[in-house]
Amino acid sequence: MSEPEEGLSNRARADRWRVEFPYRWDADELVSRRQLLRWSVWASGALFASTGALAVLAYTRERRRGGLRAIVDAAAVPVGGVHYFTYPGPDDPAILLHLSDRRFVAYSGTCTHLSCAVYWDAERRRLRCPCHEGVFHPETGDVLAGPPPRPLPRIALRERDGVLYAVEEPPA
Ligand code: FES
Repeated sequence: MSEPEEGLSNRARADRWRVEFPYRWDADELVSRRQLLRWSVWASGALFASTGALAVLAYTRERRRGGLRAIVDAAAVPVGGVHYFTYPGPDDPAILLHLSDRRFVAYSGTCTHLSCAVYWDAERRRLRCPCHEGVFHPETGDVLAGPPPRPLPRIALRERDGVLYAVEEPPA
């Protein structure tokens, strides 16, 4: 504990204060601002670099995921039938519908509302999401009812030698 300051002149008090806190205000501020600025530049640079790296990773990953993939023999799905598969990744549900004679459509099976799995309601001939009663049109993937904000992403199909292929992934 410091000695009582009674009887000390202002100059003596200032000298004592400098001994206890040996920092000059102007120098202290100068260093702090410079350090803060340096830190901000480094942090901004690091953030910029990591964002760029993530964007490149996402781009290359997306490009890897799509592409040609055999789904099923067309003859194995009767008219009015459905075939569940995964596309573009192994964890991405997708649905193939045989609407009419040799007319197939495929959609992402992930609901555009909160990502529940969509299924084919054969009785009502609609694609349904059980979570919040989302309903999608089988011909277009358009939303017919419920809260989904967008249609189901469509997956393009090709048929070659009786086999159906998915040829592109649904847009993100
Ligand atoms: S998650 Fe499909 S309707 Fe909500």
